[in-house]
Amino acid sequence: MSEPQNFYAEVGGAPVFEKLVARFYQEVAADDVLRPLYPEEDLGPAEVRLRMFLEQYWGGPRTYSDQRGHPRLRMRHAPFKVGPIERDAWLRCMRVAVDESGLDAAHRDQLWQYLQYAAMSMVNSDF
Ligand code: HEM
Repeated sequence: MSEPQNFYAEVGGAPVFEKLVARFYQEVAADDVLRPLYPEEDLGPAEVRLRMFLEQYWGGPRTYSDQRGHPRLRMRHAPFKVGPIERDAWLRCMRVAVDESGLDAAHRDQLWQYLQYAAMSMVNSDF
């Protein structure tokens, strides 16, 4: 899926992605399904990785690949069981973050379509 390179700039750049991902991880921290999946006690580094990835995907700085190499996200999720329950929990947390992002409806929809598709494609378990 390729997205317009200007989405990042159009929505206001770094602060928007910071807010979105910080809000998402607030939800993750309180989620009984997702929280146990995260190996580190500190969710901060995971927050930075997701933020860098999303910024890069939407046309912002390429810091994610500079630091982490090729995303290969399905492979990176292989150690974690991602079934329908985990996918729905992830999307629930993201929905809160997207709803509170302050983006206009068109950008919100565009972002949400992508996140739903991406979450679906990360599923690696039937249960
Ligand atoms: C990493 C869970 C979907 C992007 C992780 C980690 C977990 C996780 C447990 C390890 C934390 C870390 O050390 O970074 C899940 C679950 C999902 C999901 C349960 C449910 C579908 C997604 C989606 C995206 C994404 C849809 C992208 C749009 C990332 C990125 C990393 C990551 C960029 C860090 C990869 C790295 O560089 O090591 N995820 N994830 N995840 N996830 Fe997900």
